[in-house]
Amino acid sequence: MYTRPSLTQYVVARLITIFIFVTSLYILATVIVPKEFQNTAFHLSLFVISLLLVLGSVYIGAKRVKRELKVVEKYLSGVEEYENFNRQALFFTQEFENINVKLIDILQLIKKKELKKRKYHAKIKLKNRQRSDMLSAIAHEFRNPIAATMGYAQTLNDDDDIPPALRKKFLSKIYNNGQKIEELLSRLLLWNRFESGEQKMQISTFDMLPLVKDVIHNLNEKYKNREILVNNAPLVIKADKALMEIVIKNLIENALKYSKEQVEVKIEGNKVSVIDRGVGIAPEHIDKVTKKFYRSGEHSWDNSMGLGLAIVKQILSLHHSMLVIESEEHKGSTFSFVLPSF
Ligand SMILES: Nc1ncnc2c1ncn2[C@@H]1O[C@H](COP(=O)(O)OP(=O)(O)OP(=O)(O)O)[C@@H](O)[C@H]1O
Ligand SMILES: [Mg+2]
Repeated sequence: MYTRPSLTQYVVARLITIFIFVTSLYILATVIVPKEFQNTAFHLSLFVISLLLVLGSVYIGAKRVKRELKVVEKYLSGVEEYENFNRQALFFTQEFENINVKLIDILQLIKKKELKKRKYHAKIKLKNRQRSDMLSAIAHEFRNPIAATMGYAQTLNDDDDIPPALRKKFLSKIYNNGQKIEELLSRLLLWNRFESGEQKMQISTFDMLPLVKDVIHNLNEKYKNREILVNNAPLVIKADKALMEIVIKNLIENALKYSKEQVEVKIEGNKVSVIDRGVGIAPEHIDKVTKKFYRSGEHSWDNSMGLGLAIVKQILSLHHSMLVIESEEHKGSTFSFVLPSF
């Protein structure tokens, strides 16, 4: 394999060549030129010719170095345009070849860093946009209960002659809307705790059945005419009780919101399922419903931020479990998950 000479080797080789050339020239000249012409002018001419040869050689050497430096300079000034760097030998001497290889490494590193920086900026930009979308969605959800509260309060304030029954009704509407705002806020705060990783787990061993019954009891107060069934199978698990309550509550409340008929909770072995016969979810939306702030546009409900299933998914993943969604449009849905029992 051809190895490039080092700069020193190159210069020494040049000097030796010139020395041999000049010496040969001198010997040849003294042999060829008759003795009577070998005067001072003759020696001076030989000296000038030798000097010119040395100078010419230095000039050619300098030009070569300049050409090699130009290639290096080209790399440095056109970093942006270089897609593929030429690692093949472009240089005559080893030092420049080494500089070339090192420069390519540095430039590739810079390019990599630049790409990383661009990706980071794009991510920040996306995050900012998502944050702004999120704020608009939140503002929108808060607007309804706030507007309702203000409306009822204004009516009560403006009309002193409102019959007591109506007054009571308006006051209870104000209370209910306040409760809605409170629920929206706590869901938002819970989500924020998940996002920032502040949510701490408090693991205990408990039976899911009484917890499910409790949640059903509380939801029955809000959804008075709805039937929620549960089979009486116990399931003792080791989990965060408060978080599991949130999971069950969100799934049952969704089933109540997105269906009109009876809702069923089934505990079979380690599996818990919440079943409804409601609007169902189109196959292309199933993957999206657990994304934060995702709500299908067709059914808009008060007090919905599209956070419920995202929170459920997070909680289940903290418990090394996952949400399985089976759904058929206009037929109903089953949301289930499996937990290790004890
Ligand atoms: N049981 C269900 N049947 C049909 N669609 C559902 C069901 N559960 C959830 N979805 C769909 O998934 C979307 C996301 O549900 P998710 O619980 O995350 O949000 P939400 O119920 O709209 O609002 P939030 O739970 O924050 O009050 C819903 O808007 C709805 O379109
Ligand atoms: Mg929900």
